[in-house]
Amino acid sequence: MERPAPPPWKVKVVEPIALRSPAERRRALDHAGYNTFLLRSEDVFVDLLTDSGTSALSQEQRAAMELGDEAYAGSRSFFRLDEVVRETYGYPYLVPTHQGRGAEHLLARALVRPGTIVPSNLYFTTSREHVELAGGRWVDVAIAEASVPASPFPFKGNIDLARLEEVLSAARPDEVAYVRQEACLNMAGGQPFSIENLIAVRELTRTFGVPFVLDATRISENALFVKEREPGYASRSLPELVRLIADHADGAIFSSKKDHFVPIGGFVAVNDEALATRLRELVVLYEGFPHYGGLAGHDMEALAQGIRESTDERVVGAYVSQARYLGELLQDAGVPIVLPVGAHAVFVDAKRSLPDLEQDSFPAQALAAAFYLAGGVRSMERGIVSGQHGSEPYDGLELVRLTIPRRVYTQEHLTWVADVVVGTLAHAADVPGLRITYEPEHLRFFQARFAPLSPFPDLALEHAVAPAAALATA
Ligand code: F0G
Repeated sequence: MERPAPPPWKVKVVEPIALRSPAERRRALDHAGYNTFLLRSEDVFVDLLTDSGTSALSQEQRAAMELGDEAYAGSRSFFRLDEVVRETYGYPYLVPTHQGRGAEHLLARALVRPGTIVPSNLYFTTSREHVELAGGRWVDVAIAEASVPASPFPFKGNIDLARLEEVLSAARPDEVAYVRQEACLNMAGGQPFSIENLIAVRELTRTFGVPFVLDATRISENALFVKEREPGYASRSLPELVRLIADHADGAIFSSKKDHFVPIGGFVAVNDEALATRLRELVVLYEGFPHYGGLAGHDMEALAQGIRESTDERVVGAYVSQARYLGELLQDAGVPIVLPVGAHAVFVDAKRSLPDLEQDSFPAQALAAAFYLAGGVRSMERGIVSGQHGSEPYDGLELVRLTIPRRVYTQEHLTWVADVVVGTLAHAADVPGLRITYEPEHLRFFQARFAPLSPFPDLALEHAVAPAAALATA
């Protein structure tokens, strides 16, 4: 196995964490309704819930925050951010928002009308919900491989071009709000699109005269995979590839809580002045004045510096190699994971891990609960609880996401996670299914509550081996 090279940073500030006792973990999970979102972070040992807003800031980001200009209007910090966005992505009009879903909301309000459609590669939960709340319909045009965890296809973020053409040809004029393509497709396992596919999508949207918008939340990682996997791009620099990707769309939304390393922030940036004007009309209603969009001046400073760091190939390469390392540990132990290993996470295939459980007993939710019991590892369900959605067809994936915050955990933490996953799957036959006891109307995965169909077995890793980390009991 290839061990990751030392990362281009060292740790300066630390945050204590502790492994709760097995009995405490059982109590905490029960209290949380078997939903890892509802655990308190102090009860979590290694937190792989999400890479969103959980990355470590750099000293340069922290220093930049001191320069935050908190003026309500005309803030210097906005203009600094605006300049970095133009330099990095090329879009002339920037509208900041408090986070990615704020940008999705504005875009949907600006472009989606009742009865319009948004063709996209798979979906992201909040992205789809905002389109539907505006009266639109989400149309999945991902390639089939995106929903096949074992397929090693290198560009599962590609759009099925024949399907897209069919959808665009069948649509009435003005029925298509925009076409969306997501970089490092989250729900498929953090899988990139190729530049070849992106260019073909661009051409189709031009032919049919419809806007093309990227979800560029994980654009740096997509660019890195293009460099590594797509013929013809190996000698291009990461900033060049990021720009090349951005150049092919009319605009993009970003959740900056991922590739830009900030705890809060996002934006929508576009080429079209009329659309920018409409977005600015909306931002004052929902986020704040266009020069801060729900962010503090110091947030915009940290974000501007984070964008600079996000195209540093050594930085992106280092955190992507952590996912690869964890993925290889799991694969070598025979754990069924989504292939190829994506950028920000390793996704365990719960259907193959717990083959005895039907999907209506929520195998991925149950497996995420089991990982917490086994070793205080918090992961996230990305299966039927996240995907099931009214009358929408379900995409079929039933995954647990082990998401790696950027610049936060060490190789030892990841080894612990691998031990937890492997140790849990040794008891796979005994992991019970769940039933839902409370179901919110929107985005149910965040706050739904569950109860086990039978008691969970004793999974605690410290009962099987005596790892050093177990000594760190709170
Ligand atoms: N688009 C993508 C591809 C995302 O992954 C997310 C968030 C958003 C939009 C929304 O951005 O959270 O800043 O409002 N993904 C997080 C996750 C929540 O855990 O995958 P947000």
